[in-house]
Amino acid sequence: MITTFQQHIQAQQQSISEASGTFSYLLAGITLATKMIQAKIRLAALDGAIGAYGQTNVQGEQQQKLDVYANEALLHCLGLKDSVAALVSEEDEEPVTFDRAQGGPNTGKYIIVFDPLDGSSNIDVNVNVGTIFSILRRRTEGDLNASILRPGHTQVAAGYVVYGPSTILVYTAGNGVHSFILDPAIGAFVLSEERMMMPEQGTYYSTNEANAATWPQAYRDYLDLLRSGGLGKEYSSRYIGSLVADFHRTLLKGGVFLYPPTLKQSKGKLRLLYEANPLAFIAEQAGGMAIGHGNRILDIEPEGIHQRTPFMVGSRREMEALAEVLAG
Ligand code: AHG
Ligand code: MN
Ligand code: MN
Ligand code: MN
Repeated sequence: MITTFQQHIQAQQQSISEASGTFSYLLAGITLATKMIQAKIRLAALDGAIGAYGQTNVQGEQQQKLDVYANEALLHCLGLKDSVAALVSEEDEEPVTFDRAQGGPNTGKYIIVFDPLDGSSNIDVNVNVGTIFSILRRRTEGDLNASILRPGHTQVAAGYVVYGPSTILVYTAGNGVHSFILDPAIGAFVLSEERMMMPEQGTYYSTNEANAATWPQAYRDYLDLLRSGGLGKEYSSRYIGSLVADFHRTLLKGGVFLYPPTLKQSKGKLRLLYEANPLAFIAEQAGGMAIGHGNRILDIEPEGIHQRTPFMVGSRREMEALAEVLAG
């Protein structure tokens, strides 16, 4: 018999600290939004929902219509939940908070941080995109920012949905990594794999080599090590350009994804709170590793909600070799 995501969460709640129905109710808000997003993506080319929205976001990027739709779907589905203290999105400059109708102080226990649509540059060419989310607990002390700007190891849960030939949800609450496939016939995410583990080593490296000339030298040395068989395997290059898709392949097949510092973006391109942290949490739960420019991603103390970081993530063998090269 099938196990749905909701059933899995309820079963897990008997054993994890978030033993409240609130938490599964909150996750239902996220999965509802991703079902709306995937439905919209599947028909986007037919009903003119692809292409630029016509505004620039806080990242300085040309927003795509689906960026805006995905963001609105998540804000709508999560904004109705009393347990939400705030929502942090790639597409909104500031955290979105809610004055609850009853006028009481915002009693929300959780903060949801998300990249509503990852890989926007791939929408028009019909390539996989995704949604990435991270759940933080609202701390009693300090202001809202004190609860948002927390290192990734404080995450309660994290996950992503990759919209590809299948719509797949991958999720962790610190108790292993589990994947679910959307079954459109019943409109539910159905458990496909529990306790996923990254292979010890893979045969793919994944990076935008157009930037290689401006990386710190160590990263060029590292790629030469992989290419020359220095890790005992022959590597192929795979770069999709949607982080969530490149990460999903790395989770399943092993290997390494790299977005090092470049001349243009010396602090890296990928965003710490809603790209690197959630994926680093998943990678570590699956036996992999995730580092910035040598430091563990999950230990980075954020200074801003849109802060960028160099981001390298992958299976243990490749990541230990990279850490060694970076240590010089
Ligand atoms: P987003 O679409 O959410 O803005 O993220 C885009 C990111 C990520 O998906 C991908 O890994 C990276 O941009 C690709 O960057 P380059 O085009 O510089 O390689
Ligand atoms: Mn973007
Ligand atoms: Mn992204
Ligand atoms: Mn995005």
